This record gives sequence, C-alpha cells and structure tokens, in this order.
Amino acid sequence: MKELLKELRERSLQAIAGTDSAEELEALRVQYLGKKGELTAILKQMGKLTADERPVMGQMANEVRAALEETLEKRRKVLAERALELRLAAETLDVTVPGEVHNLGHRHPMYIVLDEIKSIFIGMGFDILEDREVELADYNFTKLNVEEGHPAREWSDTFYFTEDSSILLRTQTSPMQVHAMESRQLPIRIIAPGRVYRKDEVDATHSPMFHQIEGMAIDRGVTMGDLKGTLNEVVKQLYGADTKTRFRPHHFPFTEPSCEMDVQCHKCGGKGCPTCKGEGWIEILGAGMIHPKVLTGCGIDAGVYSGWAFGMGLERLALRRFNISDLRLIFENDVRFLEQF
Ligand code: DAH
Repeated sequence: MKELLKELRERSLQAIAGTDSAEELEALRVQYLGKKGELTAILKQMGKLTADERPVMGQMANEVRAALEETLEKRRKVLAERALELRLAAETLDVTVPGEVHNLGHRHPMYIVLDEIKSIFIGMGFDILEDREVELADYNFTKLNVEEGHPAREWSDTFYFTEDSSILLRTQTSPMQVHAMESRQLPIRIIAPGRVYRKDEVDATHSPMFHQIEGMAIDRGVTMGDLKGTLNEVVKQLYGADTKTRFRPHHFPFTEPSCEMDVQCHKCGGKGCPTCKGEGWIEILGAGMIHPKVLTGCGIDAGVYSGWAFGMGLERLALRRFNISDLRLIFENDVRFLEQF
C-alpha cells in the first residue's frame, strides 16, 4: 500500500505539472481525489492492514492528499495567470498606429447656397420657419386669394390627395405666410425655405419637386421701398456688390402691387447670351406688397399694418451661383458632380 501511495503521488504530481488548462486540471482532480478517484480506491484497502500499520498509512494518505491539493491549487493559479497574460497580449491596442481617415464629404451645393441666404436674412433680423409639405388647399390657395376655379388649382398642375381637392402637396412655400400670420406676434420677419411639388415633366429646368424660399415682413408703415431695399441688399451680399438688378411689374393673386426681380446675366453682363436666353437678365423671384385681403383674412388690420413678401426658387440660385447648366445634376447626386463644389 505504501508503494501504491508513493506511486500515485509521483505520477499525479507530474501529471498536474503538465496540464495546460483549467479543464484538464479539474479532470485530474476528479481522477485522483474524487469520490471514485484513485486515492479513495487505495484507502478502501485499509481494512486489510494490521492495527499497527493503519495509522501510519492513514497519515501517509493524508500527506499525499495534502500534497495533491496544494499542487493543484498552485497549478490553478499559474494557469489563470497565464490565461490572463495571453488575453492581455491578444487585446493589446497600439495607440501609436496612425488613425484611419474617414471621407467626410461636404454639404450639397444647393444647401451651401441656402445656408448663405439664411445667414444673410438672419443678419437682418429674420427668423427661419420650416413646416409641413402636405397642405390644406385652403392655405395653399384660398387664404392666398387664389379662388376656386383659378387655373393654378387645376388637377393637371397639383398633386392632390383627396377627390375633393382639399389636401395636397404644397405647390409653393407661400402658405407659410399664412401660418406665420396666424401663429406669430406682429411685427413679423420670416423666411421659410422648403420643398414644393408640381406636376412637371423632368427636363433641364423643371422637376416635379423643387425648393423655394418664402420671405415676408409685416409692420406698421412697410412699403415697396423696403421690399426693394432689402432684396437688393440680399442679392448684393449673395452675388457681389456690383450686381445689377431690376424690378418688373407682374401679377400674383396674393400681392398688390406685384413684381418680379431680375439679376443681370453674369455670363454676358447684360448683352444677351444662351444662359439668359438673349434677355441680358435672369428672373430670380416674385414679390409684392401683401394683398389687404390676405392680411385681413389672417386677422391683421390692413389699415394699420402692411407688408411685403417674396418667393424664390432655390435651385435656380444654386445653378447661377455655381455655373451649373442642368437642373437634373442637382438632384441626381452623382458624387463626381457634387465633389466639385
Ligand atoms: N409663390 C409664387 C410662385 O410660386 C412666388 C411668389 C410671388 C411668392 C410673389 C411671394 C410673392 O411671396 O409675394 O411662383
């Protein structure tokens, strides 16, 4: 029996030293010290010993168990440390490796122009309003003095949602004037950029979706002179101090009097060329003094207050600003095109 214990001790200590993982170690523990393990099996033979031998063997068996337990525990610690080291090595982060440069891109050319226009108007004390694109016909037309039967309300021009023509995709940003008058304290100074929709075929100058910027100022004693002064200043800030402009009489249902504003052609300096279709001038916006009917309809006393308003096409300004010849390029978003701006 003494031989057996000695043999077990030597063999097991060697085996433990050769383990590589916590699992292997646990398997050995069960093999030697478990209930059905080798040490237990040896102890079962104690019965065969004499009364003198028994305590000696008992003590020896205890020593073997203690030695095994201690070695197992030491090995467990060594393996745990080694596992930790391996993990740390695997997860090492070299903070000195140069970073990956991400391609950030930049704003779309149209939004570059929009931001410029916004900051010009903000500098003049205007607020920016953005709102719904789905409108009531009431706001898109009726409250703007575009009555039932007006050609602008035709189904052929407008995207309607309902058979009774009461809900639509706004065809202009002008309904924002009504929202502003209904919800804001006087005096009002706002611009309202956003998408508008019309049933137009796509070509070099048309798209069923495009952008407008609406603008409006209402206060006591506001005149057409304020309209001209403000818009001239905006155009100068946008295109340069020597930019020439002109105002032509026009008709809009929601303004009286109404006008259109032209900018002298940047390509030919007013002589006439393909860009300005031989005119020498390029139209950039419609404007006018807000019709008293519109003011009154929004609860504003047209005897005390007056105001001017304008609406301009954003794409057209961007085309001019960046010398782009075809509207479709603005919407296609081909990166090779956009990268140029
Ligand atoms: N809403 C007009 C359009 O889409 C543009 C316009 C003209 C807006 C005159 C105005 C204005 O506010 O006063 O053609």
